[in-house]
Amino acid sequence: MDRYNDSIDRLPADFRWGVATSAYQIEGAVAEDGRTPSIWDTLCRVPGAIDNADTGDVACDHYHRMPEDVALIRSLGLDTYRFSVSWPRVQPGGTGPANEAGLGFYDRLVDELLAGGITPWLTLYHWDLPQELEDAGGWPARDTAYRFADYAELVYQRLGDRVEHWTTFNEPWCSAVLGYVQGVHAPGRRDFADGVRAVHHLHLAHGLAVQRLRALAPAGRPLDLAVTQLLSNAIPATDSEVDREAARRADALGFRMYLDPILRGSYPEDLVTDLARRGVEIPVQDGDLEVISSPIDTLGVNYYRSGKSSGHAEDGSTTDADGLPVTRHLPIGGLPVTHLDWEVMPEDFTRLLLRISRDYPGIPLVITENGAAYDDKPDATGFVADADRTEYLASHLAAVAEARAGGADVRGYFAWSLLDNFEWAYGYDKRFGIVRVDYETQERTPKQSALWLRDTIARVRATG
Ligand code: NOJ
Repeated sequence: MDRYNDSIDRLPADFRWGVATSAYQIEGAVAEDGRTPSIWDTLCRVPGAIDNADTGDVACDHYHRMPEDVALIRSLGLDTYRFSVSWPRVQPGGTGPANEAGLGFYDRLVDELLAGGITPWLTLYHWDLPQELEDAGGWPARDTAYRFADYAELVYQRLGDRVEHWTTFNEPWCSAVLGYVQGVHAPGRRDFADGVRAVHHLHLAHGLAVQRLRALAPAGRPLDLAVTQLLSNAIPATDSEVDREAARRADALGFRMYLDPILRGSYPEDLVTDLARRGVEIPVQDGDLEVISSPIDTLGVNYYRSGKSSGHAEDGSTTDADGLPVTRHLPIGGLPVTHLDWEVMPEDFTRLLLRISRDYPGIPLVITENGAAYDDKPDATGFVADADRTEYLASHLAAVAEARAGGADVRGYFAWSLLDNFEWAYGYDKRFGIVRVDYETQERTPKQSALWLRDTIARVRATG
């Protein structure tokens, strides 16, 4: 792993080091202290929806083991912990007053973190929409955005005095596309136009919450507002016009659709044209884009994998049954892959960060997630010598350092994830943790990657 050190050691001494988790993936305790079901509780009950019929009912039992987990974060020398708040835990049903017991959990978590010298980095929405709001239309319905702003206010009222870093949404692309277009994530719907509506209302909800929090923060209180996006480059499969056009479409629909409205105040024109060709319109109302582009302080970037875009279907045709141009995602080929078959290409991460800073200048970046699932094999003591994950983290950290050297303003790096956890539709079989979780005993054992990260942080802090 040492071959990455020259690059990694160029990171500055004040670089931010964190780990990330999310509520439904680790907390468990789904029916405790007044929490009501989210769309993920519902999807987990649908036969065949989740590998192995796994659910988040118990997960890592973090709800009951929170102090132990905070101590773990501290023992690794990390300075920041990115977690999410469960909406149905703090506002059951998604409307009405706060649930004191639910809020109390996050109140204790924040205090525990601060007492341990760890900065809380709070995400308001990591995919667990209260089921009642889905029943009322979910993200394709505009009203959900207003409900979100009320929820954001209620959390800020309770934690705003101690939490400076607020992320509205984690990966809106996943909520909209995996949830409403492909149907592989909750709520499991499949309708392209609903997906487009969902994107716009997620953006609107983000903007409304940004305005609400900004207005609530008393003068002089520090407030760092962010959104986290899942981003990757759209690489044309070949240099042909057809493939380059496919990559452009993929870039419009998967990348610029998520950054342009927030950071530039408009949807890309080519996206609007592509959508019109499919008979779909983004439901923008007067004033929406001003709300959506309310200034933020940080952009969270989640990066995992690369791929390429082809304008050819498997049979070679360039149009589909509806006469629309084909946009197909393909593996790059010849690259190492993780347990999820995701291709590993750290140099593409550097390119991505340089592209973001070129096209959206002026906004500081934080890597809010990066990591890999591997088929870990613990030894007799439960220790996992995960050389593959360590290599993944090292090569991607080096890629971040390279991007910084090229001018990208990246301020921090959070590994996904602190713990092995509920990997959504893949259940517990796909392990992303730098700490092993034995789900029989709930015992936590730091893997080699965690120890490597701890040592790397200490070295960079001392020499950076
Ligand atoms: C991104 C998501 O935010 C997180 O919940 C998920 O576990 C990781 N990617 C890995 O797929």
